[in-house]
Amino acid sequence: MANKLKEYLSDPFLKQLYSEVRSAGKIQSISIDLTHTCNIRCTGCYYFNDNMDVGHPTADEETFDLFLENEKKRGTNFITIVGGEPSLKPDRMRKIVKNFKASVSTNGLKKIPMEGLEENLSIGVSVWGNRETDSKMRGNGKLDIFSQALKNYKNDPRAFWYFTAIPGYADQIEPVVEECVANGNHVLFNFYGDLETLGNEMDHRRGFEQTRKAIEKVIERFPDKIFMTSYLSEIVSTGWLYDQKWGYDVCSSFSTNNPVNFDRMKNGNPFSPDFRAYNADLQTTRRCCTGIDRDCSSCFDVWQHFSWVMLNLKKHLGTKQEFTNWLTTMYMFYLINRLIDFDKGSKNIAEIHARLKREVALPI
Ligand SMILES: C[S@@+](CC[C@H](N)C(=O)[O-])C[C@H]1O[C@@H](n2cnc3c(N)ncnc32)[C@H](O)[C@@H]1O
Repeated sequence: MANKLKEYLSDPFLKQLYSEVRSAGKIQSISIDLTHTCNIRCTGCYYFNDNMDVGHPTADEETFDLFLENEKKRGTNFITIVGGEPSLKPDRMRKIVKNFKASVSTNGLKKIPMEGLEENLSIGVSVWGNRETDSKMRGNGKLDIFSQALKNYKNDPRAFWYFTAIPGYADQIEPVVEECVANGNHVLFNFYGDLETLGNEMDHRRGFEQTRKAIEKVIERFPDKIFMTSYLSEIVSTGWLYDQKWGYDVCSSFSTNNPVNFDRMKNGNPFSPDFRAYNADLQTTRRCCTGIDRDCSSCFDVWQHFSWVMLNLKKHLGTKQEFTNWLTTMYMFYLINRLIDFDKGSKNIAEIHARLKREVALPI
C-alpha cells in the first residue's frame, strides 16, 4: 500500500490534494437535529416521513450546552446540522461554531444571519428543481422558496446549493444550475428518494441515468462551480462501489452507540467509529441520519455515499485513476465543509473534474 501511494503521489497535483487533506487532521463527526420543527413540509421528506420528530422534542438550553461540552470531550470536531429547519435556531448555531466546524442544511426560506456565523460554517441551501417543481414539492404549490433562497444567499461565501435531483426532471438541472451559478454560488447534488411512493417522475426505481448525464453537462459548462464529481455521481446513481452494492451492510455512517447497529459493526465493512446521528432531544440517537428502519435502497443521500467512498481507500489503490477517484472525493468533502482552506482549495475544482473525465461514454 505504501509503495502504491508513493507512486501515485509522485504526481504533484495529487500530492498537493493529499497533503491538504492530511494536514486537516482527524475529523470526528456527528449529525444533530437542531430542532424538531420546520416552517415547511417537503413532499417525501425523510425526517417527517419516518416521524423522526415524534417523541424527540428539541432540547432545552441547558441540555444543549451540556451536550456541546460532552461532544467536545468525546473528541467531536465537526457537526452536520439538520432537522427540522436549523435556520429557526441561529443562536444555537452560533454556539456550535464557537467550538466546532459545522455544515448546515437549510430549506433557504429564512436567511441564516451572517453575524456570529461568518466562520466555521458551510451552508447547503436545498432546492429540488425549477420554480414550478420546487414550489409543488416543497412549497405546497404556493411558496416560491427558490426565489427567496436566491435572494437570501446571493454571493454569500458560506453558501452552496444542495440540489436534490428528482429522477424524471433531469431537464431542469441545467437551467436551475445556471441561476445558482449566476447567484454567485457553487452546487452539489443529492438524489431524491421517493418515500411517499408517488411513482412516475418521482420514482427512484426508474434510475438516475438522465440525472447523471445532466450533471456531466453542468460539470462541462461550469467546471469550477460544481462540487459533485462524475465519480461520486456514478457511485450514488448506480449504488455500486467495486464488488459492493449500496445498502445497510456497507453504509459507513450510522450511530455506533445505538444497539440497533451492533451487529452491523461486526460484519467487517468499514465504518466511522465515533459517528452518531442525534435526535433533536440530543440525548437519543437513531440508526442513521436519514433513517430509523427504512429500506436503504431508497437512500441516495450524498453525504452517506461520500463516507462510503472515503472509508474505502484500499479498494481504490489498483491504479492511479482509481486513487484519483478516491482522493478527489475526499478533497471535495473537505472543501465543501471548509475543513481545508476554501479560497485556496476552490481553485482546484476545475482540475479535479478534468482528472475525472469519463473514459467510457454514458449510454444514450
Ligand atoms: C430533512 S432536510 C433538513 C434540513 C432543512 N430543513 C432542509 O430542508 O435542508 C435535509 C436534507 O434532506 C433532503 N431530503 C429530504 N427528504 C429527502 C428525500 N426523500 N430524498 C432526498 N433528499 C431528501 C432535503 O432536501 C435537505 O437537503
